[in-house]
Amino acid sequence: MSQDLFFFFFFFLLVFSHSACDSSSPITVQTLDINPPHYYNPKLPPRTLSSSKKFEGSSEFVDLRYHMGPVLSSPINIYLIWYGKWPQSHKLIINDFLLSISTTTPSNDHSSVAEWWRTVSLYTDQTGANVSRSVVIAGEYSDQRYSHGTQLSRLSIQQVIATAVRSAPFQIDHKNGIYLILTSVDVTVEDFCRAVCGFHYFTFPSMVGYTLPYAWVGNSGKQCPEVCAYPFAIPGYMAVSGAGALLPPNSDVGVDGMISVIGHELAELASNPLVNAWYAGEDPTAPVEIGDLCEGLYGTGGGGGYIGQVMKDNQGRTFNLNGTKGRKFLVQWIWSPVFKACAGPNALD
Ligand SMILES: *[C@@H]1O[C@H](CO)[C@@H](O)[C@H](O)[C@H]1NC(C)=O
Ligand SMILES: *[C@@H]1O[C@H](CO)[C@@H](O)[C@H](O)[C@H]1NC(C)=O
Repeated sequence: MSQDLFFFFFFFLLVFSHSACDSSSPITVQTLDINPPHYYNPKLPPRTLSSSKKFEGSSEFVDLRYHMGPVLSSPINIYLIWYGKWPQSHKLIINDFLLSISTTTPSNDHSSVAEWWRTVSLYTDQTGANVSRSVVIAGEYSDQRYSHGTQLSRLSIQQVIATAVRSAPFQIDHKNGIYLILTSVDVTVEDFCRAVCGFHYFTFPSMVGYTLPYAWVGNSGKQCPEVCAYPFAIPGYMAVSGAGALLPPNSDVGVDGMISVIGHELAELASNPLVNAWYAGEDPTAPVEIGDLCEGLYGTGGGGGYIGQVMKDNQGRTFNLNGTKGRKFLVQWIWSPVFKACAGPNALD
């Protein structure tokens, strides 16, 4: 281990419950596993995973199954909608994360965002076509004037998309397009912070003219970082127990917290774009998807409130993936259909 890079062991005596409002979660004791497995298989999930309601659709763990619908197997064109006032520096962090997903240059860097996306690309449709490894930003639209106000409902998010696709040169790309709506710190969204940090769904033709897969993620920096930007902010009861917040890799709690949520939602959108492909559970209105199964896990040995072994840079900032232009990110692991466990490229050999 070099001085400026070491594996960071971080665990809590008090288990963190993702859902700050879920007062029914019992407090249990987390012990450090000195012989951790490479992959984490929550077949008998810790309570924090099974009871989490942070993301759309989380519920009891059931075997992940394919329900015959499409996955995003064509090259994925992301259309970004910046809703509200977004500083350029924040946009750059998020753009760099999205640009890191595609493998452009071959590299022997195993702990890259592109390698993280490889797990997502293992999902196939009934023709055997895999989720695409090509992900580009095809267009950006800034809705700086809050066209639908500063309090959005789930349905008005579709109106935001409709407004964006009606404005040239932003387009309707019903073949390869997905729409990613990012709301600024001052925008509240229905269920944001209480039940969700982000969600994905598809638009209704009556609202947008087409059925388009989309995801929304909000900047929780001023509203609920301890819920949606964990572990860069922690709930008060954990600070009492001595656990500290981790330093975000790009020095912005809200935006660095969004990165993992964006990764979670994009992975689910790609493998379950119309909510009829890959999910666990019997109830399609409450699917447990490939991100939900690994929420809160970022490295080897994680689980039950412990994020797993991740890295620190020479300034003490936490990360588990390298991105383009020397960027670093902390992104949760994804359920692998091959390992039948949560997997990430920073797993220890
Ligand atoms: C990527 O991260 C790993 C740690 O997993 C590190 O050893 C490596 O040097 C990084 N690569 C680059 C290109 O920064
Ligand atoms: C496609 O997915 C299958 C099943 O998970 C996997 O075995 C295969 O390696 C994937 N192919 C590519 C090109 O990623």
